[in-house]
Amino acid sequence: MPAIHRLTAADVPRLRQFWRDRWDAEFVVAHETVFHPENVSGFIALDGNEWIGLVAYSFSDTDCEIVSLDALRENEGIGTTLIEKVIEEAKANQCRRVHLTTTNDNLRALGFYQKRGFQLCALRVNAMEETRKLKPEIPLIGENGIPLRDEIELEMML
Ligand SMILES: CC(C)(COP(=O)(O)OP(=O)(O)OC[C@H]1O[C@@H](n2cnc3c(N)ncnc32)[C@H](O)[C@@H]1OP(=O)(O)O)[C@@H](O)C(=O)NCCC(=O)NCCS
Repeated sequence: MPAIHRLTAADVPRLRQFWRDRWDAEFVVAHETVFHPENVSGFIALDGNEWIGLVAYSFSDTDCEIVSLDALRENEGIGTTLIEKVIEEAKANQCRRVHLTTTNDNLRALGFYQKRGFQLCALRVNAMEETRKLKPEIPLIGENGIPLRDEIELEMML
């Protein structure tokens, strides 16, 4: 398993670049909310100095929201480890649920989260039309050649 480090203020410039590389902009948009690197918490999976995975999350009342999750080397357990760290952290902060937004094209993420105890809890049809106003870089066709249209929210009650 890789070393897992907590994201610190010193990591913000690198997070900005990481999100640019992975998600086409230095901020993340979900449910019409913009998340900036300086306002999220996170864990980094490291191989030496190299970032091979990252989860960013944010607390709001008794909710813990996963803002982004990336494993740069897939099927090695990095995504699972990072999710487990966030759940542990949410419990330590007395959260009642962990939730996240993904999109209709991301079949791998939909499978990944459901296999790890998350349940679908909301569908925002055509939400990407609004999201594109904030982030025009978002393509019309997403993963697996699927039109990228809808936001799907998943949650885990703690
Ligand atoms: C979704 C994502 C985070 C999953 O991360 P991952 O590190 O590949 O996930 P894991 O390796 O923990 O688990 C994936 C599979 O690998 C298998 N696996 C885990 N460790 C393994 C190992 N050491 N050897 C072989 N297989 C392994 C698991 O069994 C799992 O299969 P399952 O889901 O059928 O149970 C990753 O695919 C990703 O970064 N996708 C792009 C970004 C994205 O879509 N993020 C989510 C949007 S919110």
